[in-house]
Amino acid sequence: MDLFEKKFRNSMATKVALLNRITYYIVNRKGKQMRPMFVFLVAKMTGEGQVNERAYRGASVIELIHTATLVHDDVVDDSNKRRGFFSLSALWKNKIAVLVGDYLLSKGLLLSIDNGDFDLLRIISVAVREMSEGELLQIEKARRLDITEDVYYEIIRQKTATLIAACCSLGAAAVQPENAELIERMRKFGELIGMAFQIKDDLFDYSDGPIGKPTGIDIKEQKMTLPLIYALNVSEPKNRKWLINSVKNYNEDKRRVKEVIAYVKEKGGLEYATKKMVEYQLEALAILNDFPDSPYKEALTTMVNYVIERKK
Ligand code: IPE
Ligand code: IPE
Ligand code: MG
Ligand code: MG
Repeated sequence: MDLFEKKFRNSMATKVALLNRITYYIVNRKGKQMRPMFVFLVAKMTGEGQVNERAYRGASVIELIHTATLVHDDVVDDSNKRRGFFSLSALWKNKIAVLVGDYLLSKGLLLSIDNGDFDLLRIISVAVREMSEGELLQIEKARRLDITEDVYYEIIRQKTATLIAACCSLGAAAVQPENAELIERMRKFGELIGMAFQIKDDLFDYSDGPIGKPTGIDIKEQKMTLPLIYALNVSEPKNRKWLINSVKNYNEDKRRVKEVIAYVKEKGGLEYATKKMVEYQLEALAILNDFPDSPYKEALTTMVNYVIERKK
């Protein structure tokens, strides 16, 4: 990871002074860096304990794109906090955040192209397309307030799970480019982790934090996540109406939002979401089980469990 960080820092280099200041800000407020860790651990588990330059480049591309989506996501979600400090859009405003996100995306794509990593570029590009589709589907559902549990899974699969799936398939592809079956198996593994990961993130929104970013903003953004969807499904028509009406017309009313959160908790929404999250976790662990024991498999098991137990 030390070596990765050096390479990652270099991958953002620019001659534009303003951009340089901003990328400096970004690399100094790094996140958990789970995605590159998945790339490296999968590469090691499937490639005889080795990582190669392709894996390093792939990890950098993924972290660049992840960073770009967070910068854009905070514009979309009107969120002023990220990684324990101001979001880019809070500090430099939306215009600059949009352009910086595009810059990071282009740097990522070029890093693959310049090195001829076209197989990895395909994996990554599919994830980028799906993330955009997922965020848009989420907005569509937030406007119509007609989300179902199945559509929720589709949204989180697209907006979050596909990138973690890309990490794991890319890790395998970096060291075993010809092994399509293995690459697909690792893609599925990452997708399952990603599903659990986003359910955990949505549970955080119902907590009091601190998690380094705002909590309680999903309802404000009319984002209906699994705890709320479950509460709707088990409510009588009268309460369902009250819930929908709250999200539709009182989503800026702090007291009303608190009432909604309390109601969702009372209906067991958090327990239900936790149960679903654990189902994804166990499915991911089952895929790992088919691999022979190694320190990398053990570390991946720890990572999968961390997704569920993490505090931020
Ligand atoms: C946040 O991802 C975006 C989601 C998909 C929920 P992370 O929680 O991995 O963000 P950082 O990189 O650690 O800040
Ligand atoms: C993650 O969804 C979306 C991305 C793919 C960036 P959220 O909007 O819930 O992520 P956070 O909570 O802002 O990190
Ligand atoms: Mg957000
Ligand atoms: Mg969130």
